[in-house]
Parts: sequence; C-alpha cells; structure tokens
Amino acid sequence: MKCILISIIYFVIIKDISYVLSIKQNDVLNHLGTRTPYRFRHNKDDSKIKYPHCKDTKIWMIVRHGTRLPSAKDIQGMNTTLKDIKLETLLQHKHGKGQLTQGQLKDLEEWTSTLDIEREKYLTLEGRDEMILLAERTQNRFPNAIKNKYNNKTFLFRYTATERAQQSARYFTNGLFEKKDAQDVIFLPATKVDPVLRFYKHCDRWQKQVKKNPDTYKEQILFGNSYEMNKTLESISKRLGLKRVLSLGEVNLMYKICGYETSWNKHQISPWCYAFDVESAMRLEYYHDLKHYWMDGYGHNLTYRQACLALKTMFKIFSDKPDPFAVFMFAHSGTLLKLLTHLQLYKPDSPLTGDAMDDTRPWKASLIDCFATNLAFVLFKCKDGDYVLTLHQERVIKLPMCEKELCPLTKLLEYFHDSIHNCDYTDMCSLDNDASK
Ligand SMILES: *[C@@H]1O[C@H](CO)[C@@H](O)[C@H](O)[C@H]1NC(C)=O
Ligand SMILES: *[C@@H]1O[C@H](CO)[C@@H](O)[C@H](O)[C@H]1NC(C)=O
Ligand SMILES: *[C@@H]1O[C@H](CO)[C@@H](O)[C@H](O)[C@H]1NC(C)=O
Ligand SMILES: *[C@@H]1O[C@H](CO)[C@@H](O)[C@H](O)[C@H]1NC(C)=O
Repeated sequence: MKCILISIIYFVIIKDISYVLSIKQNDVLNHLGTRTPYRFRHNKDDSKIKYPHCKDTKIWMIVRHGTRLPSAKDIQGMNTTLKDIKLETLLQHKHGKGQLTQGQLKDLEEWTSTLDIEREKYLTLEGRDEMILLAERTQNRFPNAIKNKYNNKTFLFRYTATERAQQSARYFTNGLFEKKDAQDVIFLPATKVDPVLRFYKHCDRWQKQVKKNPDTYKEQILFGNSYEMNKTLESISKRLGLKRVLSLGEVNLMYKICGYETSWNKHQISPWCYAFDVESAMRLEYYHDLKHYWMDGYGHNLTYRQACLALKTMFKIFSDKPDPFAVFMFAHSGTLLKLLTHLQLYKPDSPLTGDAMDDTRPWKASLIDCFATNLAFVLFKCKDGDYVLTLHQERVIKLPMCEKELCPLTKLLEYFHDSIHNCDYTDMCSLDNDASK
C-alpha cells in the first residue's frame, strides 16, 4: 500500500515538473537534492479542500525556509575553485577537448559570481516568492482555518533565529494578509536555543551520538570512495575536457551551485549543471541522501524521537478549546526530515548503504526535502468527530498508521501517545542518560 502511495506521489510530481518546465523525466534537474526549487514540487491546484459534513477549523504547518544563498564557504568556492574550473574548461575546449556544446560554452563564459559573503544563507528573491505563493494557495485550500483577516489571538507565527527563516515568515504573512494587516503581525521572539523548531541543535546527546559520531558518515564516505564515484569524477572531468581528474570536493561544489542557481533563477540554466549527465547527478544525489538518512532520518532512533518536541505542539493546539487556530512555523531541512521520519514516511525497505545505490528508495531529498518543503496538519470538525488531514508539499498524503487520508484525531492521539506524553527535552537530550540508552 505504501509503495503504491509513493509511486502515485512520484508520478504526480514528475508530471507536474514536465508540465511546468518541460524538463524531461530523466533530466539532471530532477536530482538536485535539498537544493531542488519549490516550483518543481508545489501543487498548482489550490481549490478548497472539502469533505462532506466537515469543516476545516485549525491548521498547524511547518515550513522549511525558501531558496537561500550558499554558505560562506561555498561562496568562496564559487569565487576561486569554480572560476578556475571555468577558465580551464574554456581553454581545453579551444584545444578541441571536452564535450560541451557551443551554447553551453557561451553560458559558461558569461558565468560569474558576485555574491557577497556577508549575505551567506540569506533568503533570495525566489525564496520570497515561494513563501508568498505558498501562503496564498494554502489559504485558498483552507479558508475557514486560515482567515484572511489577521487576529493576534488566533494566528501564531514563529521562526528560528536565522535571517532566512525570519524573512520566510515575513513573506508568508504578506501572502496571507493585506499589507496593512501584515504589518501588525506579531511573531514569537526567536530564541538561540529552540527546543521546538530546532530541537536537535542543542540536544547534547544527539550531538554526541549522531552528529559528532564518525559512524554517521561511514556510508557516505564509503560511497564517496567507491569505484562508481571514481568513474563519475572521471567522466565529469572528461566532459569538461580537463587534463586532471576533479576531486569529489570540486564536483560536489559544482553540483551544489547547479542546484542553487537553478533554484534562484527560473529563467536560466546554471552552466554548472552542464557538467553532469543524469547518471552522475543521481550519484551526487545519493551521496547526499546517504548523509541525510544517517544524520536526519532513520539511521538513529534518537534523531527522529526528538521530533516529538515539535509534533506534540500540534496535538496540544488541536486538543485545546479555542477555535480556530492557525500556527505557522519556519525552520530548516533538518527539522522537516526528522519530522517526516517520526511520522514513518518515505522509509526505505532497508537501510541505505554506501556499497550500492538504491535507486528505488523513497528517501530522496529531491522529492521530499526541496527548498520551502512543508508539512501541514489540518483539523477537520466533522459530524462524527474530529479528523486530521496531512499534507506534504501541499499534497494530501495518507499517514502509514492511518487507514485513510482523513484520519481520526483519537487514532493519532493513541498512536503518538509516547510522542505526546513521553517527550521530555532534558530526558532525551541530557548526556547524563547516555549510558542507559
Ligand atoms: C572574489 O575574488 C575577487 C578577486 O580575487 C575579490 O576581489 C573579491 O573580494 C572576492 N569576493 C568574494 C566574495 O570572496
Ligand atoms: C491584539 O489585537 C487587539 C485588537 O484586535 C489589540 O487591542 C491588542 O493591542 C493586540 N495585542 C497586541 C499584543 O498587539
Ligand atoms: C577511488 O579513488 C580514491 C582516490 O583516488 C582511491 O583512494 C580509492 O581507492 C578509489 N576507489 C576505488 C574503489 O577504486
Ligand atoms: C532504537 O534502536 C535500537 C537499536 O538501534 C533498537 O534496539 C530499539 O528498539 C530502538 N528503539 C525504538 C524506540 O525504536
């Protein structure tokens, strides 16, 4: 059943992409991982979601910030490593080496980087648009839960202490309300230690057992050193006509910049994408998915257990009396992946390993963790009780523990009993408890 559901989602997504951008099914741009632009994934259909004898009354939604600029390190890399590779590639093609076309060479020649390091990881213009449009569509789907008039008692907005999450929240409210109203919106103050939106960042036990544990990177490193990856580096270097074989670090930088530039620039193809054919892009995609699987996903159970800290706030809002209530939170890829895992979604049949690429895996950041990826729960009051509808990236999904998409709240309260009642930050995250777990 899960398999069918996933292949349906996959099919819908692929169909959308080819419709929107006429990207071929086997295009490099379908394999950009966490840097996949949201316009490849969003759901254009924003008609009201209705169920007979039911009314949408509350929404709890968590959103990864929109498309952002690269890190300082990657901005530096663009200015040095990529500028060097560009010159070398152009030169070698003049000598008859390499496989890029004239058009591709022209794009590469015109490429430059003028990003300012001060603005590392800032939200981009495309990121703003993603938030405004996401807000508008979500409101259209659930007009009762999300009123178009702001009220400081019924709306709650919060974000992590980062520019990209803060700006994402701000532009999202611009999508929901009239300009005058949007100026009045109150945001919960962001805190450096945020046990709801970034529960992992200061969770000492998780930092020690997972983030700083070399085992977490074992499979990724194995794949990075594999025969398959070596062949990939060789073929990319050959494609660019280079005399030497590029390192994994260099190829990874090209791959990341291909993703960023694709995301923030809808009208132009990044010349760094020309370095890849679909097979090589898929290998880089898998290389990153391995890390996410072991760091943010099913690899360690503390990783996703902690996500109860965010999830239980949803159950609290849905169980409390005052109606309606709309909660919107702006966070990061690491938050969303851990939540998806807590919900048992997109779980591969067996753990992902570095010795063989599992191409049928549902765990693909390109599909489930693009920029602005989001998860929403909507409370429906129905004639026969309360139900919860779940949406990922604006598409209704069926949770694995539910029989249908519209799932009884009581059923979820029962299934997630531990996530609600046995979810203490100190218990879970303190190093004092390390030996026992
Ligand atoms: C890029 O390199 C140029 C010249 O090497 C330098 O002037 C400029 O400050 C650099 N920019 C960044 C963002 O590093
Ligand atoms: C909330 O809105 C009401 C009116 O709608 C206003 O009187 C009140 O000052 C607002 N609260 C805050 C904290 O701004
Ligand atoms: C891949 O290349 C690296 C670096 O050149 C090397 O250490 C490694 O053994 C190679 N792996 C295989 C499987 O050939
Ligand atoms: C956590 O993982 C360990 C082994 O890695 C397993 O034995 C245990 O059952 C897991 N706990 C939960 C709550 O899933």
